[in-house]
Amino acid sequence: MAGLIPRDFIEDLVARSDIVEVIGSRVQLKKSGREFAACCPFHGEKTASFFVSPQKQFYHCFGCGVHGNALGFLIEYEHMEFVDAVEELARQLGVDVPREGGSAPQRERTSPDLYEILDDAARFYRQQLKATPDAVEYLKQRGLTGEIAAEFGIGWAPGGWDALLKALGTSDARRELLELAGMLSRREDRTYDRFRERIMFPIRDGRGRTIAFGGRILKGDDQAKYMNSPETPVFHKGRELYGLYEVRQALRDIPRLLVVEGYMDVVALAQHGIRYAVATLGTSTTPEHLHKLFRVTPEVVFCFDGDRAGRAAAWRALEQALPEAKDGRQMRFLFLPDGEDPDSMVRSEGAERFAARIETAQTLSMFLLERLSAEVDLTSLDGRARLAELARPLVAKVPDGAFRHLLAKELSARTGVEPESLTKLMGEAPAAVAPSRRVRARVPIQMTPVRKAIQYLLKWPELAVLVRDPDTLAALEQPGAALLGELAAWLNGHPNATAAVVLEHWRGTEHEPALLRLAEIEPLVSAAEAKTEFVDLLVRVAGQGFRARTERRLEELIQKAPGLSDPEKAELRLLLEAKNPRETGV
Ligand code: UTP
Ligand code: MN
Repeated sequence: MAGLIPRDFIEDLVARSDIVEVIGSRVQLKKSGREFAACCPFHGEKTASFFVSPQKQFYHCFGCGVHGNALGFLIEYEHMEFVDAVEELARQLGVDVPREGGSAPQRERTSPDLYEILDDAARFYRQQLKATPDAVEYLKQRGLTGEIAAEFGIGWAPGGWDALLKALGTSDARRELLELAGMLSRREDRTYDRFRERIMFPIRDGRGRTIAFGGRILKGDDQAKYMNSPETPVFHKGRELYGLYEVRQALRDIPRLLVVEGYMDVVALAQHGIRYAVATLGTSTTPEHLHKLFRVTPEVVFCFDGDRAGRAAAWRALEQALPEAKDGRQMRFLFLPDGEDPDSMVRSEGAERFAARIETAQTLSMFLLERLSAEVDLTSLDGRARLAELARPLVAKVPDGAFRHLLAKELSARTGVEPESLTKLMGEAPAAVAPSRRVRARVPIQMTPVRKAIQYLLKWPELAVLVRDPDTLAALEQPGAALLGELAAWLNGHPNATAAVVLEHWRGTEHEPALLRLAEIEPLVSAAEAKTEFVDLLVRVAGQGFRARTERRLEELIQKAPGLSDPEKAELRLLLEAKNPRETGV
């Protein structure tokens, strides 16, 4: 793993970037009072309930409840990983992301250089393609236009042994990088180009950086048709999906992704206007692939050959997919006629008919039940019992939820076993799924003085200077007082922080959800009134805290009552007096 990015740096980044710019460059924003408004990009709507506050550097939607700072927006909207979002913000500000810790420094020195040399290689291959009529002719024959070839960065690795090595390996350091990037092979002491006389498909990561290549030979030969880069510090093939970057470039909204097997399938589908295909890289679908896919889309259609090998591969994919079959995610299986692949299909029947096939793809549950049903005799009681036995461990892999319930029901219809007893028999269920990120439950929040004070600090961080003794505040007993004190102390040390920076600082902590909720509620006072109101709130918080402490001490003393020492008796009298001066009347 890469070294950690220092928290201070991330917070500073959030402090220095402007959320209005970050969101405004992606979503049409309209000025609305002191905020900006838009139709929410996270749920369909006709009236604007999505607001961006320049003051808090925070966005929120009254409709679906999304909210966060600039980093959160990039993560949700661009489907970025946290680290990628940090790097994107840094890039916009033109600063480098520092790393700290462990074995990282060396990696950190080499990774940017690795990306650079891989990019150089991609450029070199593209140039070579232009100069190689045979290769261009081959791509044309396969139905590709120059436009699509350019979009996918397709190139040509020339023959000979060292074309790339000569062009890019201009120093010892660069030769070392080429080797580290997997671009060279070594036999005895000879080092030479790994890819020779091949059509080159650059594999790109989520940010469009070239991280590896796949290369195809032109004609049938005795060597492997395709060759991939080996695993390198920047390439792990079980994690990457060919074409995902290109899909995200082509489509804003991705209602569905089609998972195919080959590079050419992805490119040919794109050529025919089907822009949502990705390919695994010669491996079966891994759980990491599935996570990547579902971060971007709610529906995944797996496409396989209709032959035996294809069906076996589909079954392996299904087994991987079951634990990911959470509610709100759909998975389907498309089987093509024997001997066909998406490339040959779309070329022979056209995009429309191919898309129609996708529409009719089998649901995960149908595929599962049909495949199992084929193994038993459903006309016999024995066969039906056997089906239930076969299905049970598979259904058990599905997270508890509506989908699992449905599956059990379908299973019950075929076996005659009650669905309730089926689910009960199905062993321990994986934990229930959190609600989808697009539909959050909106529990009203009760505004105590502590919460109001936090809310004020998020809106007007400069009020923190009014908190003279944050430690005392933090030591109070009512819920949230510790956070309030901590927040005030932290703000005093970070005079330029906005709500967004506060959220960044507390990201991933137990306090994050409360802070997010409080940041999205506007205080009901004007800026002019804020200061007096805030001081008043602090007094109330302290008063509450004091009363709570008094009550607790009183309770202690009363419990102990018959055996009180003289000082304790005095204390009791004082406390009672403080609580209600008239009653004791001393
Ligand atoms: P296929 O053999 O189905 O080829 O391999 P294809 O994609 O239809 O290729 P074309 O149409 O002949 O050009 C599917 C995928 O399996 C991997 C590659 O990722 C390829 O895209 N593969 C295949 C290899 O890694 N090595 C091979 O030798 C063959
Ligand atoms: Mn093919």
